[in-house]
Amino acid sequence: MGYQRRSLGHGIGLRPKHFSQLLGERPRVAWLEAVSENYLAKGGRPVAVLEKVRRDVPVALHGVSLSIGAAGPLDEQYLSSLAALVARVEPVIVSDHLCWGSHGGRYGHDLWPLPYTEEAVLHVAGRIAQVQDRLQQQILIENVSSYVSYRESSMPEWEFVRRIAEKADCGILLDINNIYVSGKNHGFDPIDYLDGIPADRVGQFHLAGHMDKGTWLLDSHDAPVPDPVWSLYRAALRRYGRVPALVEWDDHIPPLEVLLAESGKAEQIERETLEVGLETLREAVQ
Ligand SMILES: [Fe+2]
Repeated sequence: MGYQRRSLGHGIGLRPKHFSQLLGERPRVAWLEAVSENYLAKGGRPVAVLEKVRRDVPVALHGVSLSIGAAGPLDEQYLSSLAALVARVEPVIVSDHLCWGSHGGRYGHDLWPLPYTEEAVLHVAGRIAQVQDRLQQQILIENVSSYVSYRESSMPEWEFVRRIAEKADCGILLDINNIYVSGKNHGFDPIDYLDGIPADRVGQFHLAGHMDKGTWLLDSHDAPVPDPVWSLYRAALRRYGRVPALVEWDDHIPPLEVLLAESGKAEQIERETLEVGLETLREAVQ
């Protein structure tokens, strides 16, 4: 039991816009994260590209439609397509969001948060266990950003995430930007969030940009990572050590060079943060 974190370094998202450039120029990339839903249909260019890049670099599959928090049964058709993709690609990580996005077989376009209750912990953990049985591997669940909360919630979000991960025996994909955005929107301290998540469950980070709407923040994933999110990344590195990290850019996707530079910045920050940490320790023992 427990989650074995991989040593992957810093990756980027695999986007159709960059397919030709990636295949043609083969820039140095540690790993790629592909949105599972774009590759579920058999055949076609996306799958051919995925199979090609897979030969050179590790690939993670990141889903948006598992709807792990929904009330009805799991979507069998989706699960079997995902299982087939996992068998074909042999991803280093399979992840999806801790939320619900469908009801009664209909999918919404948003990732809605759950009420943080005992009942929801048991419900979601049971469904994650089913998915892991089906895929024959552990998955990571990602914290979503939220703008509303439920009166029924009986625990903070970080306790909810921790308890589900422990109960289901899965890993956690911590989206650092989402913690920051939700912290601002709900008025909690992001450091309390980090302190509440056990290091041995953390398998991956997402870093992203957001939009400042004045009185609240929108998790837009369409801009460079802003300074406060970099600062929270530093705090997360100090708490959890080296974690595979990915700069997520879902909208207004920039040229590949921009994405690579942002990922390089994350790598640089990791080096500075952890090496400075080591220096301090070295000084302390001398
Ligand atoms: Fe994310």
